Amino acid sequence: MQVTRATIIGYGSQAKAWAANLKDSGLQVNLLLRPESPSISQAKNAGLNVFTFEDELEQLGEIFVFLTPDDTHHLIAKELSKKLNLNQKNFIYAHGYSYLRYDFEKTYPEVNHLLLAPKAIASELRERYLSQENLVAVLSDPKGKSSELLEVLSNKLGITKKIQATFKDETWADLFSEQSVLCSLLPYGARKSFDFLIDKGIHPEVAFTECWMEVKLIADAMLKFGPEGFFKLISPNALIGGEKAQKLIFDNEYQKKLDSLWKDISSGQFDSQVDETKANELRQQVLDDWKKSKLPSVYDEFYKDQK
Ligand SMILES: NC(=O)c1ccc[n+]([C@@H]2O[C@H](COP(=O)([O-])OP(=O)(O)OC[C@H]3O[C@@H](n4cnc5c(N)ncnc54)[C@H](OP(=O)(O)O)[C@@H]3O)[C@@H](O)[C@H]2O)c1
Repeated sequence: MQVTRATIIGYGSQAKAWAANLKDSGLQVNLLLRPESPSISQAKNAGLNVFTFEDELEQLGEIFVFLTPDDTHHLIAKELSKKLNLNQKNFIYAHGYSYLRYDFEKTYPEVNHLLLAPKAIASELRERYLSQENLVAVLSDPKGKSSELLEVLSNKLGITKKIQATFKDETWADLFSEQSVLCSLLPYGARKSFDFLIDKGIHPEVAFTECWMEVKLIADAMLKFGPEGFFKLISPNALIGGEKAQKLIFDNEYQKKLDSLWKDISSGQFDSQVDETKANELRQQVLDDWKKSKLPSVYDEFYKDQK
């Protein structure tokens, strides 16, 4: 199948990596931005064809990749529907949230909705493409007529491992893992242990190294060796201590908390919480709160510029 061009909407974190990868793979990449977008000159400097929503949009082809924040996708789809005949158009999402949240299959039945969700932050997506390392993505083609398009596009993006799943699987698992492990347990677990050691008078750089820096070493080993290899690898003290701690921490109450996170995601309660929350204000509160810990300043002074 010949795929010669794609239109990326937005020029944020993911869009920059997608645009660079697809362009380097020989695709003509168009960018669709707001007329007032501060990214227009940057995108032009990167050699991309830039269009705004005020331009004639039929010239942009059949493939539209939504790479703006998830809560803007329904507004953008509405705008596109006013200016384009959506019949035969492909909307591609890097995460399934908006497709489910705004019921796109029902709202735009004439569109071919496709999921191509790289399981990588933007910098990894670009770096791994350049170094030709493994890149995993979840793909979904609910109407079952675009497997070739997804195959070609994901190859050009640099995806090497493709998981065929549903929008719901990708979205719910993504939200659940962010909540239960990636953006809670890891950073806050590390911080709680760091702050605890500081209170006990431990040298801050030692506490930082043990609680924050070593997270990466452990995560790398988990991935490289798998569970079996990992538990064979760790020292007897780490094994005995880890097992003692996991029995203490992961009790019935912990299981109930996982159930509660899942219930909110699967019932739509979490969607309402997202609607009610001003993310920018919350981000500022979080940043202010982290300043109460010594961890950010130890990171800045001790580690930030190390490579
Ligand atoms: N970040 C990740 O690591 C990651 C990983 C996997 C998947 N994803 C998915 O990738 C998608 C993009 O995420 P991201 O973090 O890369 O987004 P992002 O960096 O926050 O996107 C910023 C871009 O979106 C544009 N934008 C914002 N609101 C807009 C609106 N109302 N109309 C038109 N353009 C608008 C901005 O335009 P201006 O230039 O005009 O300001 C800017 O170019 C999301 O679906 C996300 O779930 C993200």
